[in-house]
This record gives sequence, structure tokens and C-alpha cells, in this order.
Amino acid sequence: MPTGQGSSSEARDRVPCTGSLTDMSIPTVPLLHGASIPVIGLGTYPLNNDEAAAAVRAAVERGYRHFDTAENYRNERGVGQGVRDCGVPRDELFVTTKFNREWHSVDGARKAWQASVERLGLDHIDLLLIHWPNPDQGTYVDAFRGLLELLADGSVRAIGTSNFKPSHMARLVSETGEVPDVNQIQLSPYTPRTASVEDNRRQGIVTESWSPIKAEGLLHDPVVTRIAEDLGRTAA
Ligand SMILES: NC(=O)c1ccc[n+]([C@@H]2O[C@H](COP(=O)([O-])OP(=O)(O)OC[C@H]3O[C@@H](n4cnc5c(N)ncnc54)[C@H](OP(=O)(O)O)[C@@H]3O)[C@@H](O)[C@H]2O)c1
Repeated sequence: MPTGQGSSSEARDRVPCTGSLTDMSIPTVPLLHGASIPVIGLGTYPLNNDEAAAAVRAAVERGYRHFDTAENYRNERGVGQGVRDCGVPRDELFVTTKFNREWHSVDGARKAWQASVERLGLDHIDLLLIHWPNPDQGTYVDAFRGLLELLADGSVRAIGTSNFKPSHMARLVSETGEVPDVNQIQLSPYTPRTASVEDNRRQGIVTESWSPIKAEGLLHDPVVTRIAEDLGRTAA
């Protein structure tokens, strides 16, 4: 679930909180480079291709419009199949994928994009992320330069990072003068990572959470269950 520069309290108030999103319109958050991201998305790890295709189709029926996959999940073919088969026009859907460390170069990012487009069977990717900074390798700035090229020629609508800390983001800014649209990080009520979220927000980067409700015990936490009860929602 993204939070950040574009998330107004009004938008947050309208985020559906029940397990079913049927007939609900999911709000979007504007991104720096002009795209908009639906605030709730379906994560597809660790589904296989067949499971992913079925999950995407079922999720679309229930109102989801945003799907998150990665080269590393080995299910881009299934996610793309689901997107193509679901009956909703492609331009109403938002597809994110991510590439691995071996593609951390300008040319590598383009090769990763090409390979993902082919596996997905889609003509474009909405959001392409550097999956991890892999600071031991030290080439994530080159990967980001590659993303900037893909953005400039329209191959992707938005670019992003994943699991980047403020120090990694600072290096991107100092060496390229640019920031990503999105930084996807593990975030939950138990791990709010306030410093990262604030650092992203200050620069207009939308923070997107992976595993927002997976924290051990979260869905039985008395604070959460009390709020859920007050709102007439499930804890999830
Ligand atoms: N960028 C990265 O490095 C990275 C890393 C990891 C994951 N991810 C992405 O993040 C995704 C995982 O995050 P997520 O958005 O799926 O959220 P999540 O916080 O992992 O929640 C998913 C889990 O919550 C439980 N759940 C979901 N809805 C529920 C409900 N209505 N009632 C009770 N329990 C419910 C389910 O647990 P049970 O299955 O136990 O029922 C489900 O597996 C992955 O699929 C992947 O796309 C990214």
C-alpha cells in the first residue's frame, strides 16, 4: 500500500479495509513522473504461473487493479496471462515488476525490461523497480540511470527502487539529480520505518509497503482488533 506525497487524508479515508473489494473503487496516488498508482495491490509471491494467472483474474473481479510481480518470483508469465485474460482494459490496470542484481547497469536495466515485457506478454510495464540495492555490488546507481532512460523513452510509466535506505537514496540523488517515483519497503504497524518514510516523503517519493499485515500477531493485536471493531471491519 503506497503512502506519500499524494496521499491525502481524504484518499486514506476511502481505502477499503475489508477482505473483499468488490464494487469498490480503489483510490490512486499520483507519482512524480505523471503516472498514478492504485493504493492497494495484489502481491504475487510465491505463486507459480498458473496460480498467479488465476489469482489475478479473481482479484480483478473483486476490484483489484494493481499487481506486483518480479523477475525473482518466476511468475511474470502467469501475472501477464491473468492481466491479458481478465477482461479489463490494460490501461485500467497497473503492473509492477522488479529486476535482479545481475542487471545493475544502464544496458542491463534495458535488457531486464525487455525480458520482463516478453515474459509478461504485455506491451508496457507501469512500474519497474530495482529489487534490492545490493550495496556489496555497488552498481545500483547505474541501474537507476538505466531506469531513467526507460522512463524517458516511454518504455515504463514510472520507475522505482525497493528496499532502499535513505543512504542509498541519497547516493541516487547526488549522482543523478533524480529520484524514483516509488520506494517499496517492508513496512507494517510494527515496523513503521519512520526515517525512511519521512525521507521518501520529503523528496516526493511514494513509499509502498510490502507485507503490510504479515507481522506476527498483528491481526490479533488488541489495538488492531479494537480499531477494526470500532470501524466494523476485519482486522486485516
Ligand atoms: N520488494 C520486496 O523485496 C518484496 C519482498 C517480499 C514481498 N514483496 C511483495 O509483497 C507481497 C506481500 O505483501 P502483501 O501485500 O501480499 O501483504 P502481506 O502483509 O504479506 O499479507 C499477505 C498475507 O496476509 C494474510 N491476509 C491477507 N488478507 C487477509 C485477510 N483478509 N484476513 C486475514 N489474513 C489475510 C494472508 O496470510 P495467510 O496466507 O497466512 O493466510 C496473506 O498471505 C508479495 O507477494 C510481493 O508481491 C516484495
